[in-house]
Amino acid sequence: MKDRYLDFVNSPFGTSIARSLGLPRPEVLRRHRADRAEFGGMAAIGAGPSPALFDDLMGALSSIGMTSIAHESASGWLPVAARHGAMSGRFEPRARDASASDRVEALIFDATGVDESAQLHSLYAFFHDALRSLAKNGRIVVIGRPPATRASVPAATAQHALEGMTRSLGKEARNRITSNLLRVADGADIESALRFFLSPRSAYVSGQVVTIETPAAAPESWSKPLAGKRALVTGAARGIGASIAAVLAERGAIVTGLDVAAARDALDQTMLSIEDASPSGGAHAALFADIAAPEAPADIAAALAASGGVDIVVHNAGITRDKTIARMSPEMWDSVIDINLLAQARIDDALLARNVLREPGRIVAVSSISGIAGNRGQTNYATSKAGVIGRVHAMAPLLRARGITINAVAPGFIETHMTGRMPFGVREAGRRLNSMGQGGLPVDVAETVAWLASPGSAGITGNVVRVCGQSLIGA
Ligand code: NAI
Repeated sequence: MKDRYLDFVNSPFGTSIARSLGLPRPEVLRRHRADRAEFGGMAAIGAGPSPALFDDLMGALSSIGMTSIAHESASGWLPVAARHGAMSGRFEPRARDASASDRVEALIFDATGVDESAQLHSLYAFFHDALRSLAKNGRIVVIGRPPATRASVPAATAQHALEGMTRSLGKEARNRITSNLLRVADGADIESALRFFLSPRSAYVSGQVVTIETPAAAPESWSKPLAGKRALVTGAARGIGASIAAVLAERGAIVTGLDVAAARDALDQTMLSIEDASPSGGAHAALFADIAAPEAPADIAAALAASGGVDIVVHNAGITRDKTIARMSPEMWDSVIDINLLAQARIDDALLARNVLREPGRIVAVSSISGIAGNRGQTNYATSKAGVIGRVHAMAPLLRARGITINAVAPGFIETHMTGRMPFGVREAGRRLNSMGQGGLPVDVAETVAWLASPGSAGITGNVVRVCGQSLIGA
């Protein structure tokens, strides 16, 4: 589904009309493009007392090729940068009318040492100075600690407070700027998450809090982190699933796309175009199954076992059968709970019981912000999607010992068939009521899934990452 308003106000004619009428003019988000450098420019670094992650941060920024400049709050930064042999300098806040070339691409704040709430002033000081210096499509990343790992109540309180700061910055910054909080446990690695949140791949992910628990090995190649991995994507014929399959393949994975037999033509077409874009010598495969069928888990496990197993499972297939509960038939209720929730559990059980999901595996389940906020006419859908989140939370500790992670992505309004069928008013509200003023694209969900599925994300499990442009619904 195309967002015609967004296209119009970004056309030469539409821009002047919108300006003269004072209409809101959301601009198209900068997304990843193969022909454009993923990173570049400067990152301004700020810090609270005793920042613990300077070394990790410097290592990651040097490796991705960003120049760092230190705010006065990050007094220890310059020696760290010198030790790494990195380009670095001093941050000078820019005036409101500074030119575009004066701006920084990212603001990063190391708040790991903040252990009581009075010290939160250091965030005020940094962002008060620096926010105006951030370029359009810029990135804000605040780095803290998981509150539950702090030894004192004041420290846990202050670390939790970072959430409100980060989310508010996302709402205040505008200009397609995203703002996210990484809670990094002692010894955990930040590079995979930092790369994702600093890059255009996270264009529609803002206001999120991600916990990183443990170290992770760096992939052999950051551009093809999924090389050598096999992935299953359900509901891959179209929409978000087709995009997930394409992005996983582009990142190096060999993909089995699954859909119902009735979607044969669409799935074949999707897999063909993936093969053209990311040649695998024919190893990308289409698999036809109704995930709700009783025989599906065993059939899927057998098909994947025949090619040596699978490393990444993406539960994307889902349906809506909307009606207010008084008017909802039992079939509408049962089919949504079964396809969106129970089928995911049955498939995982079959793959885990037979060790078809290889260690260290990745499971990514597609939920929805409906499952967080609830939605009129969607008791069945919201229940199923909240259940997906519940299952991720409950399964994560059980799978930790096997090195398997399980996370959920919760899309907001994404331009697909599903949202194309919404009544006009509901569709427009869904599109505009978020910090980006526009709907997301399937690729925004797909990039988030690919990041969670990558080896560098080994320390991330039991998380729910919303891909919603910081939707006001369920905020
Ligand atoms: P879509 O309707 O365009 O595609 C869903 C795909 O799943 C279709 O190809 C369909 O044939 C397949 N599928 C449905 N039932 C199946 C079954 N029993 N067995 C095998 N395949 C089956 O939907 P869209 O928009 O791409 O959504 C994908 C996922 O994202 C769903 O889980 C949906 O709930 C979720 N989502 C979508 C949002 C959006 O704005 N489009 C927002 C939030 C969540």
